[in-house]
Amino acid sequence: MIKPEGVCVRIPASTANLGPGFDTLGMALSMYSWIGMKGSKETVIHLYGDEMDGIPTDKSNLVYKVAQMVFREAGVQVPELEISMYSDIPLTRGLGSSASAIVGALFAANELIGSPLSEAKLFDMATAIEDHPDNVGASLFGGLITAIWDGLHADYIRMEPHEELEVLVVIPDFQLSTSEARKALPEQISRKDAVYNISRSSLLVAALAQGRLDLISRAMSDRLHQPYRAELVPGMAEILENAVDHGALGIALSGAGPTLLALVERHSQRKKELETYLLNTMKAEGIRASASWLSPSREGALLIGSMPSGSFLEMIKGEVKA
Ligand code: HSE
Repeated sequence: MIKPEGVCVRIPASTANLGPGFDTLGMALSMYSWIGMKGSKETVIHLYGDEMDGIPTDKSNLVYKVAQMVFREAGVQVPELEISMYSDIPLTRGLGSSASAIVGALFAANELIGSPLSEAKLFDMATAIEDHPDNVGASLFGGLITAIWDGLHADYIRMEPHEELEVLVVIPDFQLSTSEARKALPEQISRKDAVYNISRSSLLVAALAQGRLDLISRAMSDRLHQPYRAELVPGMAEILENAVDHGALGIALSGAGPTLLALVERHSQRKKELETYLLNTMKAEGIRASASWLSPSREGALLIGSMPSGSFLEMIKGEVKA
């Protein structure tokens, strides 16, 4: 049964890997995008905000195409859609903007037709599109996600982020596509490096699950992807080496980059010191960057109402950053 009033959903940004958990660990962040969706006589796509440059407004639009996948899977026909999108998540910076669009499209389309598909099915579909479960899992379920993907099905466990965890992201003003950043990675690694990562990734998950914030700095290091991606992000090597000495609990490249993400104790006295250190290090490399203080988002994809009959921005106002 298609909801004639349409739906409006909110989807969080996400960080992936958290250092050693390449393609397996993800965390949702308190930065969001919104998608409105409704059946229509003809397809029309409205884009709002600075992060939408270059996004198509015809049926080649990712959100439109992914919504049609849901309808096909459910055996329902909704060929024409009115879609509205607004996002605070910067594009191609390692904060899961494409994952949020995919998850938002799947979730909104499924809600629009009365939720015939389970969340587990949506997760499998999202992972098949994105190719790894870390960003999409976090955007869909919120919190911290550890997940595996066998090419058909994703299994996961969601953990509640520790209340003391805060997140500082430093977002360089250049884009780095995931495919580019994956090209930098070697096909093979040594057993020594494999053990290095498995041990740290396992310890990191256990430390996050048990609230052992004291172990994060040592558990967050990585030999699987960050050393190979360091030359793509000027200042990254130095920051990964020294950020803990400037007050971070741990530091990592966020997803495929170029954003760098520090976990910070919420009541730390050294937040300003850390932010200044990160921005100055980037600046010294000639990189302009902006810093944002975020929290882990406990909520994943969320239905916030029906598609507004008036202004889309009016409906989500108060929630958006700008
Ligand atoms: N785990 C992926 C990577 C995340 O690091 O390539 C990219 O979004």
